[in-house]
Amino acid sequence: MIVLFAACKEAPQDEWSLELPSNFPKPHFDVANRPITKEGFELGRKIFYDPQLSRDNSTSCGSCHIPTSAFTQHGHVVSHGIDNKLGRRNSLPVQNMLWEPLFFWDGGVQNLELVAINAITSPVEMDESPANVLEKIKNDPAYPPLFKAAYGTEEVTSGRFLFALAQFMGGLISANSKYDQVQRGENNAQFTAEEARGYELFKQNCTTCHQEPLFTDFSFRDNGLTKNYDRDKGRFEISLDSADLGVFRVPSLRNLTYTKPYMHDGKKASLEAVLDHYTGGLEMSRNLDPLLIQPNGQLGFSLSAQQKLDIIAFLKTLDDEEFVRNPLFSEQ
Ligand code: HEC
Ligand code: HEC
Repeated sequence: MIVLFAACKEAPQDEWSLELPSNFPKPHFDVANRPITKEGFELGRKIFYDPQLSRDNSTSCGSCHIPTSAFTQHGHVVSHGIDNKLGRRNSLPVQNMLWEPLFFWDGGVQNLELVAINAITSPVEMDESPANVLEKIKNDPAYPPLFKAAYGTEEVTSGRFLFALAQFMGGLISANSKYDQVQRGENNAQFTAEEARGYELFKQNCTTCHQEPLFTDFSFRDNGLTKNYDRDKGRFEISLDSADLGVFRVPSLRNLTYTKPYMHDGKKASLEAVLDHYTGGLEMSRNLDPLLIQPNGQLGFSLSAQQKLDIIAFLKTLDDEEFVRNPLFSEQ
């Protein structure tokens, strides 16, 4: 059982610390020097759900990152933002951010404390300037006491604002799925026969990219969705290296039940459609990942209908009901 803010055993009663899952590796985020506190998390939560971050005070981070959808915008192929404008990409889940080295589908941001700037300034998301946001926050009487609780004084600075958001997002840890309980030997959790077969098939075909326990190796690859890169050039837009054309972040596979639709373009509506893609839907694109080309030249994997169902059954063991229903994570 993951307790977000468990009282630290060695520390005095009133001190809190973030409990990291025992089956996860060391986080990428420097939690030792940038510690996540209860008060910082609570300030970040208030900011995350505050529509004042957008130009017309209509759109909060939580408008596109909804808790019950594992912090994605469920039901939208690409995101909907301010003035009902359509974004270009499917919203990513905000979960297990502490382990991520690079953010966004194209890896364009390297620091969790900077991701908010992209969303605030994007003309199709919040379309606001960071300076205006800070003014609005400073003038809102709800905030000074929260800044004081988190940082000792009421002073509102961009660094404090961004670090609070990072603390909230960093606290959004999903690690209590059935899969995690099986791994940690908790609650006598066991895979069904179907899930166990699916896990074996997953390890044979999928873990090279979707590496356990975060279900991504954090690399950027082209999984053959399209050979036409004109609509979205992916990581190339950041690196300007032609080997990165049409190349996107390998996403985590946690909480897929809540994060439909799938892929950067949101074009796969179901897990069945995803499995059909990997078993016969791949396009021979310029940068198609070699792991998806068999020695005989066949694209993708050979899986029977039953094997696809088995893999889907396994993927559902990565759903974390407690994460999407955690009252600490929702707007208060
Ligand atoms: C209009 C909808 C929208 C709003 C508002 C929005 N986001 Fe996002 N968010 C997205 C989309 C779409 C992506 C994926 C974009 C991409 O990869 O190019 C994303 C990606 C992210 C990611 C990257 C996750 C990862 O795994 O790399 C984080 C973190 C994030 N958003 C945080 C925020 C924060 C914080 C705010 C508020 C300041 C915010 N978002 C506001 C739609 C939105
Ligand atoms: C060569 C690396 C690679 C392999 C192998 C691979 N994937 Fe993927 N997977 C990716 C990449 C890259 C994406 C994102 C592609 C995009 O949106 O452009 C992705 C996306 C997905 C998604 C969508 C997730 C989301 O949140 O949108 C699912 C589901 C998925 N893969 C399942 C699987 C399964 C199941 C297997 C094994 C049968 C598998 N993958 C094998 C690289 C891989």
